[in-house]
Amino acid sequence: MSDSSTTAVMFFCLGNICRSPLAEALFRHAVEERCLSERFHIESSGTSAYHIGEPPDPGSVRVARERLGLDISGQRGQQLTRDHVEQFHYLVAMDRSNQRNALALRGPGEKSIILLRDFEPSPSHRGRDVPDPWGGGASGFEEVYEIVSRCTRRLLDHIVEGEGR
Ligand code: 4NP
Repeated sequence: MSDSSTTAVMFFCLGNICRSPLAEALFRHAVEERCLSERFHIESSGTSAYHIGEPPDPGSVRVARERLGLDISGQRGQQLTRDHVEQFHYLVAMDRSNQRNALALRGPGEKSIILLRDFEPSPSHRGRDVPDPWGGGASGFEEVYEIVSRCTRRLLDHIVEGEGR
């Protein structure tokens, strides 16, 4: 998956078709902007098996294209596994419910599983869930885009500062 010079980051939600595909794409975009692509391995997944092999939801595909000109339609859903939890350096949950689902996969003493919104610029927003936009209108995907965009940037700052890059 990655060698010792690579930082592996896994974003996950429930279905891996709405929130975490956007987080994967926006984090990758921020990494590319900072010319750090060769230092990262980035994936996304869902804690459920509902959408394995499926492309992202049309709402996420559209907001990525409209807001940033990114085509995320080639991404495919996968389920978070115990191997992922062992191997990735950063496991980033979109909400508390899925954070709990992932904790159930974790062995004793293993790394922490963090919440994306712990990286909110505003302290009053920290620790909240990224709201699930599935089945809702376009405004839900716009809101997810805004949250994920600002939090993935701060997550990248945090990782880069922590690793002295
Ligand atoms: P996501 O949204 O977890 O952000 O991908 C959902 C997608 C599908 C379902 C729930 C949430 N579902 O129940 O199928």
